[in-house]
Amino acid sequence: MVFVGLLVLSLFHLSLVGSHQSSQHASSPPQPAGEQPPEGSDNLSFPWSRLRLPRYIIPLHYHLHLHPNLTSLSFTGSVQIQIDVQNNTNWVVLHSKGLKISNATILDQNLTHLSDQVLPVLHHPSHEQIGIFSPRVLSSGQKYFLYIEFAADFAEGFHGFYKSTYRTSTGETRTLASTHFEPTSARMAFPCFDEPSFKANYSVRIKRNPEYISLSNMPIVKTVEVGDGLLEDQFDVSVKMSTYLVAFVICDFKSVTAATSSGVQVSIYASPEKLQQTSYALEVAVKMLDFYEDISTSAILFPSKI
Ligand SMILES: *[C@@H]1O[C@H](CO)[C@@H](O)[C@H](O)[C@H]1NC(C)=O
Ligand SMILES: *[C@@H]1O[C@H](CO)[C@@H](O)[C@H](O)[C@H]1NC(C)=O
Ligand SMILES: *[C@@H]1O[C@H](CO)[C@@H](O)[C@H](O)[C@H]1NC(C)=O
Ligand SMILES: *[C@@H]1O[C@H](CO)[C@@H](O)[C@H](O)[C@H]1NC(C)=O
Ligand SMILES: *[C@@H]1O[C@H](CO)[C@@H](O)[C@H](O)[C@H]1NC(C)=O
Ligand SMILES: *[C@@H]1O[C@H](CO)[C@@H](O)[C@H](O)[C@H]1NC(C)=O
Repeated sequence: MVFVGLLVLSLFHLSLVGSHQSSQHASSPPQPAGEQPPEGSDNLSFPWSRLRLPRYIIPLHYHLHLHPNLTSLSFTGSVQIQIDVQNNTNWVVLHSKGLKISNATILDQNLTHLSDQVLPVLHHPSHEQIGIFSPRVLSSGQKYFLYIEFAADFAEGFHGFYKSTYRTSTGETRTLASTHFEPTSARMAFPCFDEPSFKANYSVRIKRNPEYISLSNMPIVKTVEVGDGLLEDQFDVSVKMSTYLVAFVICDFKSVTAATSSGVQVSIYASPEKLQQTSYALEVAVKMLDFYEDISTSAILFPSKI
C-alpha cells in the first residue's frame, strides 16, 4: 500500500522568491580539484572556485539523523552520504550554510575509516560550500561513505529548517519546526550536494519528545526508544529525488486520515483546534488522488510538500 503524506499546514507559508543571494561576482578561473600532496592541514586552501559543485562525486544515498530541540530552538544531526567517486581526488566538496561541523570522516565500502583522525573541513562561506580533505586518495570507480556531524539553531524566516509558532485558543504559544528547501536551502539543514541534478535516496530518522510527532516524505517504518525519554522515528527510504524535495516537520499536530478507492491513505495534519476544519481538505485530497489514479495506472506517490 502506498502512503501519501499530504500536509496541509494552515501556516504563514511565505515564499520569499528571489531572496536567495548567490555571489555571482568574479568567479575566479576554474581550478579542478585533483591530487594534492598530503601536507599539514594548516596550509590547505579551498580546492574549488566555482559556484556549481564538481561533477566527479555523485551522492547516492543519504542517511540523515536529526535531533531537533524545540526548547533550545536548535538541532544537532549527522549525515552519512554514500558517494560514487568518478575521478581520483583528495577532496569532497559539497554545500553547507550556517552549520557548525563538528566531525567529518570518510569510510570505505567495508566501513573502515580512511583516516584515524577527524578530517580537515575548509569553508567557502560566500559559495556556501565546504571542502573535506582526505589524506588518502579517493579512487575513481569506488564508493565511499562520507560521515558528518553538525549543529545549528533553527533558521529565522521561512527557509531551511525553521521554527514557527502558533497560538492556541487559550493564548498559549506552541512551537513547531519545519522545512522549506526550495530552491537551495537544504544546505541550511544538513550538508548536502544541493543541486537538483544530484538525485539520491534518503533515509531519515528524527528524535523527538513523545508529546510531538514528526513527519517526512515517507511513512514511518518504526519508532524506537533512544533513552532520555526520547523517541526516534525511522522513515522509509525515499525514491531518488533532489535535495530541495526533502521535507520534515516536528509538531504537536493531530491528523485525520481517509483512504482513496484504491486504498491509498491520505492524511491531513493540523493543530488540534483546527482539525475540524480539515474535513473539506481531506475530501478534496482524496478526490484528487482518485482522479490521478484513474489517469495513471500505477499508484502515484508524491513527497509531502510543506
Ligand atoms: C605552510 O606555509 C608556510 C608559508 O606559506 C610555510 O612556511 C610552511 O612551511 C608551510 N607548512 C607546511 C607544513 O607545508
Ligand atoms: C578526470 O580526470 C581526467 C584525467 O585527469 C580528466 O581528463 C577528466 O577531465 C576528469 N573528469 C572530471 C569529470 O573531472
Ligand atoms: C531540549 O533541551 C532541553 C534542555 O535545554 C532538554 O531538557 C530537553 O529534553 C531537550 N529536548 C529534546 C527533544 O532533546
Ligand atoms: C567522529 O565520528 C566517527 C564516526 O562515528 C567516530 O568514530 C569518532 O569517534 C568521532 N570523533 C569525534 C571527535 O567525535
Ligand atoms: C573489503 O573487504 C574485502 C574482504 O575483506 C576485501 O577483499 C576488499 O578489498 C575490501 N575493500 C576495500 C575497499 O577495502
Ligand atoms: C532509490 O530509489 C529508486 C527509485 O527512484 C529505487 O528503485 C531504489 O530501490 C531506491 N534505493 C533504495 C536503497 O531503496
